Amino acid sequence: MKPMLAAEDIHVRYGGSIALEKVSISIPPGRMIAVAGPNGAGKSTLVNALAGWSRGSPRVTGSVVLDGFSILGQQPHRIANLGLQHVPEGKNVFAELTVTETLALVREPLDKEGRHLYSREQVLSLFPRLHERRSHKGGQLSGGERQMLAVSRALLAGPKVLLLDEPSVGLAPRLIMELLIVIRRLVDDGLPVLLVEQNIRAALEVADELYLLERGRIVAHGEAASMRQHEMIVNAYLGGASH
Ligand SMILES: Nc1ncnc2c1ncn2[C@@H]1O[C@H](COP(=O)(O)OP(=O)(O)O)[C@@H](O)[C@H]1O
Ligand SMILES: [Mg+2]
Repeated sequence: MKPMLAAEDIHVRYGGSIALEKVSISIPPGRMIAVAGPNGAGKSTLVNALAGWSRGSPRVTGSVVLDGFSILGQQPHRIANLGLQHVPEGKNVFAELTVTETLALVREPLDKEGRHLYSREQVLSLFPRLHERRSHKGGQLSGGERQMLAVSRALLAGPKVLLLDEPSVGLAPRLIMELLIVIRRLVDDGLPVLLVEQNIRAALEVADELYLLERGRIVAHGEAASMRQHEMIVNAYLGGASH
């Protein structure tokens, strides 16, 4: 199937140091693709390169195509407007705005072609906890609620593809699976998702495919079912026992 998002031969350098080398990744419609790997592997560098974000001044080469449009080198707001919605690491929310006010700021896309569209009601019914907290300010929300709010904003913008950078960081294990299961439901309804996770076990529970990134290179890739049995993953990340 033609991918919604395809990145080929991505190289990223920060000054003289190479952060990503020869990374190619493809996100087909209606699939959840996980990128997993240890801290410092280059996961955020990869999603930031796709979304046109730069922390520092990375030099990015390769090709990134979103639904037939070449987007590498474009401004991040333009890439977001084209439908690549990025929820960065760190769950940033507006501390002084309530949940309702924050969601009211999001504009739906002008060109709705190929977009996955969600109403405010739909988004709040996905996250009942956020609905309960709708009059609270961003600064009063827990880590999990901030993450739900950040995902909700991305959904209201009508994504073609959703990029999630470590949504599970700082969340209690029960909340991690709750959040990932909601995301999985969106994927089952057709939304393509790229999920970055340090927690490989959680990623393998929900994703269709997994790419393992180590030191800036893809060292393994396959369907989640086969990656659960993959020797390198079992030994290094799943505690040695292939449940
Ligand atoms: N702005 C930057 N300037 C220089 N080096 C960076 C910058 N951001 C990340 N790096 C380096 O790139 C590598 C990958 O980092 P990152 O993409 O954040 O990894 P991950 O998200 O997998 O934890 C690390 O070695 C990190 O030190
Ligand atoms: Mg990261």
